[in-house]
Amino acid sequence: MTDLSATTGVTDRPSGTAQQTGTTPDAIQQFLDRQRPETPCLVVDLAQVRNRYRQLRTALPDARICYAVKANPTPEVVGELVGLGASFDVASPGEIDLCLARGAAPESISYGNTIKKRRDIARAHEQGVRLFATDSAADLANIAEVAPGAQVFCRVLVDNEGSRTPFGRKFGCLPETAVELLVRARDLGLDAFGVSFHIGSQQLEPTAWEHGIDAARRVFAGCAEQGLRLRMVNLGGGLPAAYTQSAPPLADYVRRIEESLDRHFGADRPELLVEPGRFVVGDAGVLRSEVVLVTDSCDGESRWVYLDIGRYNGLAETEGEAITYRLRTSRDGDPVGPVVLAGPTCDGDDVLYQRTRYELPRTLRGGDWVDLLSAGAYTASYSSVGFNGFAPLPTHCVDGDQRH
Ligand SMILES: Cc1ncc(COP(=O)(O)O)c(C=O)c1O
Repeated sequence: MTDLSATTGVTDRPSGTAQQTGTTPDAIQQFLDRQRPETPCLVVDLAQVRNRYRQLRTALPDARICYAVKANPTPEVVGELVGLGASFDVASPGEIDLCLARGAAPESISYGNTIKKRRDIARAHEQGVRLFATDSAADLANIAEVAPGAQVFCRVLVDNEGSRTPFGRKFGCLPETAVELLVRARDLGLDAFGVSFHIGSQQLEPTAWEHGIDAARRVFAGCAEQGLRLRMVNLGGGLPAAYTQSAPPLADYVRRIEESLDRHFGADRPELLVEPGRFVVGDAGVLRSEVVLVTDSCDGESRWVYLDIGRYNGLAETEGEAITYRLRTSRDGDPVGPVVLAGPTCDGDDVLYQRTRYELPRTLRGGDWVDLLSAGAYTASYSSVGFNGFAPLPTHCVDGDQRH
């Protein structure tokens, strides 16, 4: 295991926790040492994915775990989770096809995107998908028409404070609107199942779920007044991976969630669903990159390190410097100094970190490698098809439980 203190990175030091060590898994290290793959590439340890799934399974034993496929749609990852009995949160026909192709049962799929074409809903229904998210009258009408009798849950808008990548106002409706929609869903012959929310990805505040659970309780109460008994609360995603900012351990999140559930639902505990993405795959991946160039800025005030990975071939989440990956380099141990980190394309926005203080070895040169740790989520899946001719980020899978 790599000692986090040996990790080169920002001065706001990373702090791993018992569940979230975020250290480079040994199997990945071995693969990189032995195979020396072309860079950039992402290496995912399936054993770490299994561990994360099992941790969550133990921590929330009565929750249905729907892996958010968007976080990392690598077929091997999806197949591994199918084998563990996971369910899946999908956003598109492509993700449905992927899950089915890897052996997922249609009943294990939740179409969690509230923005969907009518024909995509129809196709999903034909494929056997029966659970749909909604947050608008127009989408609900489509579901009722082309997926008759389906189960629906309504997403409410909640405060995302504490999240490194909040959703803004794109998804979710007010609790009062959710009551109206769910009652209408029942009247349209659908199974009005429950309420969902997402408190924002990489949520660093375990009390954040209180907002969603409180809103869900209000929707349950409003529906009950109209004779509709809801049964399910979908707690969404938001559980963190280990980046440079410390994140609380899973147990803290679960404790706060349980307290909120007790406070708002008491003995009338609803069925639970969770949609973890980042938590399952984030710490299971290491992204290996190569230094293309190291230069001094024209005013001589900063040292720029250009990597062969950037905003467009995997590091979309560095936008606004929201996600700050921990780094490790082939020159670790040498004296360090501040750097601006940038990607390889001809685009002026392809700068990863210039406000966040990163320090890298002063000896770093073109041809050296830089690893971005805990990079298993929202990297390969965000990679463009070939901006500037740079290929999409490939993913290699290893299995730490099958090493010799
Ligand atoms: C509907 C939905 N559920 C779950 C997730 C996964 O969130 P996270 O990766 O924070 O666990 C997302 C992420 O965008 C989402 O849109």
